Amino acid sequence: MTAVIPVSAGCEAGSAVRAPLAPVVGADTCVPLITGDAVRYTNLDYAASAPALTAVADVVARSLGDYASVHRGAGYLSQVTTERYESARETVRRFVRGRTDDTVVFTRNTTDAINLAAHITPGDVVVLDIEHHANLLPWTTAVNPASRVRGRVVEARDSIADTLAALDAELASKPAALLAVTAASNVTGEVLPIGRLASIAHRHGARILVDAAQLVAHQPISIVSHGIDYLAFSGHKTYAPFGAGVLIGRPDWFDAATPYLAGGGATRDVSAGGVTATWHTGPARHEAGSPNVLGAISIAAACDALTAIGPEALGLHEEELRARLDAGLAAIDGVTPLRIFDDARNRVGIASFVVDGVAPRAVAEYLSDYHGIGVRDGKFCAHPLLKRLGHPAGAVRASFGAGSCAADIDRLLDALIELTRSN
Ligand code: ALA
Repeated sequence: MTAVIPVSAGCEAGSAVRAPLAPVVGADTCVPLITGDAVRYTNLDYAASAPALTAVADVVARSLGDYASVHRGAGYLSQVTTERYESARETVRRFVRGRTDDTVVFTRNTTDAINLAAHITPGDVVVLDIEHHANLLPWTTAVNPASRVRGRVVEARDSIADTLAALDAELASKPAALLAVTAASNVTGEVLPIGRLASIAHRHGARILVDAAQLVAHQPISIVSHGIDYLAFSGHKTYAPFGAGVLIGRPDWFDAATPYLAGGGATRDVSAGGVTATWHTGPARHEAGSPNVLGAISIAAACDALTAIGPEALGLHEEELRARLDAGLAAIDGVTPLRIFDDARNRVGIASFVVDGVAPRAVAEYLSDYHGIGVRDGKFCAHPLLKRLGHPAGAVRASFGAGSCAADIDRLLDALIELTRSN
């Protein structure tokens, strides 16, 4: 990208057909095109990393003003920072409707959270083959020698109903400690019926872990109502891109496991020479070292901001945009959307597709170079799923959220029409 580009009259800030639901940082950023013009950047890559909500960035900026050491300082600002960090756990717990005694551990991201879950899980784990690698590889001893659990991978079927039956049969055939499932596919956005999956797991004496990375910022989820035992998500997909994530769930496995990270803060007492240690219980047990305080605070700020927007408004906004995108994609000859299930009724704001005769990377480069549109292309860290869908070389994915508007969708559709006509 060239360093200085004149911002042309083509910048479209303010020209949206329908306004974004919430302001995000960078919404008016203009980017250069290959033609030398510049346009407002159309960010359709929320499923990879969503921009910060302005409300979140404001909280982080204010928190920097009185930031100090956490947990181990008597100074006034250390107390302020410690209080903010600890109360962030409570905000997260309320946001996902956790049980009062659930342990909330701040991690780096969903991948880290599920690796922590793998560390504390005391037995076999059943997973589907449609998962993001973050919810596949930590459970698979064959490719992850560090894993102590044995992952049993069940092939998803063409319908959600048959997939649930296959999971039921697997759990009935042999006990497992855990069923680990995604709440929403990061490739197609299809939402799985978490309450029904939890019932299946519990009927067979297993617990359920939900990878909610693609859901929590878009639709409501309730640990208590859905019967979820563990839930993982990332700040950077939840409008809080400051390097933190969350694993929340029942305390007993957390407290029975050895610390995920050994070091200061996780210990009550260490013998001379560090030969023996007595470890804390609760989140501190797995959070050794100075934690990502601002990351945790930013996630709590995002939970507050999303609560203030309201799940109905969020759901309606994204549903309208998704319907607009689906209808537009279906009307373009040579564009084929990807779906896993023929009976999925609910999707978040994600649509993956392929364009006849144009490689996914070439489509993504064209959208960026000629239209200033950012999408993701490739295999989306879900290689088995892309193979299963018949696209081992990958696809193109558009994804959006609270900062998106109809003009973003229309720009993508117009660009794809232009591409397919010239192809
Ligand atoms: N997990 C992120 C994605 O699906 C990076 O794009």
